[in-house]
Amino acid sequence: MLTGLVRRADAAGAPAPEQVHLQFGADASRQVAVSWAVPATVARPRLRFGAAGSPPAGQVDADERTYTDALTGEIVWTYHARIDSLEPGTRYCYEVLHDGAPPVAGTLRTAPEGRSGPFRFTSFGDHAIPAPVGDGSGPHSANAGYVVAAVDRLDPLFHLVNGDLCYANASDQPVATWTSYLANIGRSARYRPWMPTPGNHENEAGNGPQGYLSYQTRFELPGNGTAAFRGNWYSFTAGSVCFVALNNDDVCLQDGGFSGLRRDNVPGYRSAGFDPYISGYSGGRQRRWLERELAAAREDDDIDWIVVFMHQVAMSSAHFNGADLGIRQQWLPLFDEYGVDLVLSGHEHHFERSYPVRGVLPGSGLLTPAPAPAAWRRDPAEIDTRYGTVHLTIGGGGHPFRVPARRLHGSREGVVVAGVEPGSPLVQRRSVLQTETNLWSAYRDQTSAFGFASFDLEPAERGGTTSITITYWGAADGSPDYRQRDRVVLRKPVRAGRRQEDQLAITRRAR
Ligand SMILES: [Fe+2]
Ligand SMILES: [Fe+2]
Repeated sequence: MLTGLVRRADAAGAPAPEQVHLQFGADASRQVAVSWAVPATVARPRLRFGAAGSPPAGQVDADERTYTDALTGEIVWTYHARIDSLEPGTRYCYEVLHDGAPPVAGTLRTAPEGRSGPFRFTSFGDHAIPAPVGDGSGPHSANAGYVVAAVDRLDPLFHLVNGDLCYANASDQPVATWTSYLANIGRSARYRPWMPTPGNHENEAGNGPQGYLSYQTRFELPGNGTAAFRGNWYSFTAGSVCFVALNNDDVCLQDGGFSGLRRDNVPGYRSAGFDPYISGYSGGRQRRWLERELAAAREDDDIDWIVVFMHQVAMSSAHFNGADLGIRQQWLPLFDEYGVDLVLSGHEHHFERSYPVRGVLPGSGLLTPAPAPAAWRRDPAEIDTRYGTVHLTIGGGGHPFRVPARRLHGSREGVVVAGVEPGSPLVQRRSVLQTETNLWSAYRDQTSAFGFASFDLEPAERGGTTSITITYWGAADGSPDYRQRDRVVLRKPVRAGRRQEDQLAITRRAR
């Protein structure tokens, strides 16, 4: 324990940068942030960068951000450098350094501008770490390591992390858990951005008002107009796609952030009144921001696709957590109104793909999403998302508690968290579960313990269409061999945003 001890590195013999990882800024064709950690505060942290294969030509100073972990008292020092004037579709080399330590090098690649070229991205949630730390109470699996290499083999432009990054709130060594996580993903994230969104296990009671202080300190993400909630939700544009990251703990009814370990061991937990149940914490600010973002993206002639990534799910066929009614109440009407094409999530530790959905089944008190058959009239593997939003649950990143073997059940049943029973900060509020017929469920992978998805964007096809090809890659427990399990193509006309009136007419009929 390092309580109260501030370690300051000597100019000579300072510890080296570690946990180096990339993030895009709001414009992925020009803006990248590089983040890293050092186990001490250091002098003149900075970034040097230049064209790939050339000596570094530019230099920017890095900002220092720190936090003190409430459970262990450890101080964490992180450093962040932003570059805002890169060329689109270009490779660069960079190195991060400070006085008294050798630099650590990496490379980066910016997104193509507009519809000038295709790109690939990948995604999963619920990752955990590859080996135990501390007393081993936090989740870990060999596949949490294998999946990083599997992602890298596909050479995506970037990777989306759909929450529950490392489950630090379940570990007696949360800082060591983050160190393990960032070292693991750093094998990839030093060369391509891993863009995260916080899940319920990023809520570390005692670390900031919503428990997200560790997450917020470690990542440098596009702004959302707030200081207090920076990184919790944000958007960025890559090519003709607007990516929107949401923090669903703000709208979910489930009490998902609770950690008995932190309740029992964080000093001052009771007296300070820490409460991991944070539903509604933004007071509607996130929803208002989301509506503005979606409206702007739908009006933008340069944007063909809107992809949302978030943690908890709107639909689930697993008796694990269940889908959350709060998401259906708060987010889905906006997804309908502004024609969100694709939603990626985690939280349920399996893979499930919905039919395109729009509106709700008539008379459904659970707001059960309605399939939109017009979207796949000719071929169920080719979907026109002007007629509905496709949802993917990709929760098999690496957490060892897996849905297929344990909790998947009746083939036609969906599970919804419709509320929570009364509780307190000291006792996790139990979910009130209801079931529905899962007419929205198109595919569930029941063979793979773990997996991730890849997405190939073709921005401008012959005939005036654009497409995203989705592939799900699954692996058995303990196997590094990820194989194709599911494949589907989303396709629609380029600049479909101009057809908003058609889309809204469909939406009104479905409601
Ligand atoms: Fe999870
Ligand atoms: Fe979760």
